[in-house]
Amino acid sequence: MTDLNGRHIVLGLSGGIACYKAAELCRALVKHGATVQVVMTEAAEQFITPVTMQALSGRPVFTSQWDARTSGGADNNMPHINLSREADAILVAPASADFMSKLLHGRADELLSLMCLARPLDKVPLILAPAMNREMWAHPATVRNVAQLREDGATVLDVGAGDQACGETGDGRMLEADELLYEMTRFFTPKLLAGQQVLVSAGPTFEAIDPVRGLTNLSSGKMGFAIARAAHEAGAHVTLVAGPVSLPTPRGVGRINVKSALNMQKTLNVLAQNASVFISTAAVADWRPATEADQKIKKDGSGEVPTLSFLENPDILAGIAAGSRAASGQLFCVGFAAESHDLLAHASAKRARKGVPLLVGNIGPDTFGQDDNALLLVDAQGATELPRASKLQLARQLVAEIAKRLPPHAAR
Ligand code: C5P
Repeated sequence: MTDLNGRHIVLGLSGGIACYKAAELCRALVKHGATVQVVMTEAAEQFITPVTMQALSGRPVFTSQWDARTSGGADNNMPHINLSREADAILVAPASADFMSKLLHGRADELLSLMCLARPLDKVPLILAPAMNREMWAHPATVRNVAQLREDGATVLDVGAGDQACGETGDGRMLEADELLYEMTRFFTPKLLAGQQVLVSAGPTFEAIDPVRGLTNLSSGKMGFAIARAAHEAGAHVTLVAGPVSLPTPRGVGRINVKSALNMQKTLNVLAQNASVFISTAAVADWRPATEADQKIKKDGSGEVPTLSFLENPDILAGIAAGSRAASGQLFCVGFAAESHDLLAHASAKRARKGVPLLVGNIGPDTFGQDDNALLLVDAQGATELPRASKLQLARQLVAEIAKRLPPHAAR
């Protein structure tokens, strides 16, 4: 819960109904370790009061460039300088169409725009979360302004689609507080996987017996989903191939749902052709029923039980690791091993058997369905332990370990 520890964020509010989301956002930023200084325009005060924002940020709110209170520890009556100098980033949420057009022209007739203009460009990034009616968002003037603001160095986030306060439906909603929190966390994450195409498999597979029954396992998919998120935070383009799990898709990650091992193999084999990293966390069933009945197998009251026979599923990871892209160093493959004991020995043997440069071992019964885990990384150099932590923290550490091991010529 401390992704933003030590970060000081100036949260600017310009006028728009999305100001109501800024309250939740402020709370989330503080909860995740940031200190937040709120600055509001006069228009923003029409939608939410500084009292609310002060209570949630734990700091007095600034609304005027003439505010003589001490700011940033200085008594020089220059809040636009003092507040911006101490910020790690300025996030304007909501950024109205009017406010963005002001920024574009370098206008500075109130504290928030003045502060944005006065910020040191190379030290204090500006992040804008637009919020407006769909027609305003689609207007050529706004499209032009957004493009120019990006050119001028601002990060303009995308917008959500859906019902708007005006009663219309379309693009232009400000991102939700949890999405903005994610964007801020991602913003501050070193881009160790920039340019990488990362493919992650996750979850169990489901091997059908008949149209209503099947065999599966207890994999929750949480580790794989956390890795997909961490890779995206680190700047990769990420595709997640997921077996049947009901986890939400990490923001910015492309997801393809599959069911059986054979479905998963077909999908992964195609996607691996364009990937530079493949992280195989899926708990693929070792066997599948030799036949899948077209109709539900009925209990007929005779006490007779059906007999199932099985076929072995293909080893998806070993197949991809034996392919030409992996052999030529264009694709770095990472395997997982869920064991119950002797982790180092089993993980080392599995690394050799799968033909992958990096194998990540964990104790299955200790982690299935849990939010935390402990990992043992085994590569040609030996073993590295990642002690028990949340799956997201471990995923971030694993991403850093993978980045260290990527060949310098891998697609970036
Ligand atoms: O052989 P085992 O199932 O223990 O190996 C685990 C690793 O191999 C994981 O990375 C898993 O995703 C992958 N695997 C696979 N295809 C299988 C079985 C496992 O890709 N049929």
